[in-house]
Amino acid sequence: MSHSEARSLNIKHFSQEKADDYDKRMEIANQSLVLSKILLSVGTSYIDELPKIDLSDVDLTVRIDRSLFLRGISDGGIFRSKEGLKILDFACGTGLVTYDIASHLLPNSKIVGIDISQPVLNNFNDRFKFCNSFENFFYKNGIEVVSYRYDILDNTFNVRNSLEEPKELNQAKFDIVYCTISYHHLEDIDQITARLSGYLAPNGTLIILDFYNSDIELQNHHDHHINNNEAVRQLHGISRKKLLDTFGKAGLVDIRVEPVAKLKMYRAAKFIKNHCSKENVEKLEKNELKMFQILEADGTRTKTYLVENELVMAIGKKGN
Ligand SMILES: C[S@@+](CC[C@H](N)C(=O)[O-])C[C@H]1O[C@@H](n2cnc3c(N)ncnc32)[C@H](O)[C@@H]1O
Repeated sequence: MSHSEARSLNIKHFSQEKADDYDKRMEIANQSLVLSKILLSVGTSYIDELPKIDLSDVDLTVRIDRSLFLRGISDGGIFRSKEGLKILDFACGTGLVTYDIASHLLPNSKIVGIDISQPVLNNFNDRFKFCNSFENFFYKNGIEVVSYRYDILDNTFNVRNSLEEPKELNQAKFDIVYCTISYHHLEDIDQITARLSGYLAPNGTLIILDFYNSDIELQNHHDHHINNNEAVRQLHGISRKKLLDTFGKAGLVDIRVEPVAKLKMYRAAKFIKNHCSKENVEKLEKNELKMFQILEADGTRTKTYLVENELVMAIGKKGN
């Protein structure tokens, strides 16, 4: 499939309804907090040790308290390495992770969010619209958050949709570029990684976090499988091999790729079929997973099932 076909499927999938639903769901809120905690725990000398987040005593099936969960983790990480940090959040979505990261930055830092879906960016912009009020943490600390709809690979799409190149992309070089749980929605990972690396300042860091199941390292692990959501382009997570390969091709150095956390939570069947291990997909088919029915706002019920997914981190630096 081409980049533009995958983009169309993603634009269709990330509708306003989907964006609003994303922002309401407890499992998404909890997942975003874990993603934020992992990012905020990346040390400046990450090459010695990647953050490992032990969630064995955290119940992700109930809403976790944001300030308690993120307390005490921000010192010494790369996101607090200096004032005036420039950060790119690629495929930023509705800004759940962006908000946590922005809340931990040192003064005068800036996050630029880029996404292809206007509805998710509507929610992103709503989330940050009070940032300019006087008593606000962001305002008081000179922290700026902006967002743009833009296709970083295909300028014909930008021209057709009157999307101008964000000034930050052609002027600034970023200290950190990160992307959370979006790589599996992208078709051409090598081209995207090369482009994102090109946005880095010398010594800048690229971090990708996405779903992972160790069985994807095996060939034909899911050969029985039919994709039920074509906006997902990398089924069942991304292999370490693929991430190592794409970071290497982009010329990054000090590359590390490792699973960093395990998420155990209730997920809808549609999600499980595309994002989970073969074992869990088979258990779902045989009705062997623990089930919980969520009562939706409109009174309908959605069946969800308890499964575990790993998260993998790929990190590398641009040379001098
Ligand atoms: C699962 S969401 C993750 C959003 C956010 N990073 C988070 O952690 O909540 C995937 C996002 O990827 C975006 N996306 C898909 N294809 C894209 C592309 N080619 N360029 C930019 N964003 C894209 C979607 O619009 C969506 O917001």
